[in-house]
Amino acid sequence: MLLHIQGVLSAAEVVEFRRRLLAADEWDDGRQTAGQLGAQVKRNQQLRPGSALAQELGQLIEQRCRAHPQFFSAALPLRVLKPSFNRYAGGGHYGLHVDGAVMTSQMGSAQPLRSDVSSTLFLCEPDDYVGGELVVQDSYGQHEVKLPAGDLVLYPSTSLHQVLPVTAGERIAAFFWTQSMVRDDAKRAMLYELDQSIQSLRARFAAMGEIEEVVRLSGHYHNLLRQWAEV
Ligand code: NI
Repeated sequence: MLLHIQGVLSAAEVVEFRRRLLAADEWDDGRQTAGQLGAQVKRNQQLRPGSALAQELGQLIEQRCRAHPQFFSAALPLRVLKPSFNRYAGGGHYGLHVDGAVMTSQMGSAQPLRSDVSSTLFLCEPDDYVGGELVVQDSYGQHEVKLPAGDLVLYPSTSLHQVLPVTAGERIAAFFWTQSMVRDDAKRAMLYELDQSIQSLRARFAAMGEIEEVVRLSGHYHNLLRQWAEV
């Protein structure tokens, strides 16, 4: 499931994030943080993982995502790796690759995490740069994603994906991986659909109070999650 989540950061927060990230001098060659295969196709810069700025901004993003009902419903996060920040300009790109299955925080201490869900949070407006689409391949074809600043896309970490060259302007984004309580993307997608339908039924029949059919569907949701969750 590829999902667009709006408004993870507000317009004012995005402006502040951009201002601070552009002023930072802790940008390193992205190849330093890629695996052997990734390094051959990765041409970008990455904010030094241990830097105070990366920690502070990353923590805010993590809090916002955890508190966002749609992110929670889609990712069912068990653990989230601290967000990282990358920057593409002057033809920078990241060729076709698949993310590593097991990730370790570059900030030390945290235990390794299985990457189930990949997320990219866009921090620049789409009109401010040319190219830079995130292209995700799945069984339905190729999806080009270029979202407004403050919006996030999540997709299964099992997908092949790439970032097309940024030929003008600059693209800054945050990205991170989530280990989900439900490992399988198809199961997560079913739970997400069911949860969203229950929420919308609740809203539609709010005047009638809690109706029995919705309570039953809710029970069904939790019983499926009980079957599938690994915690
Ligand atoms: Ni990737």
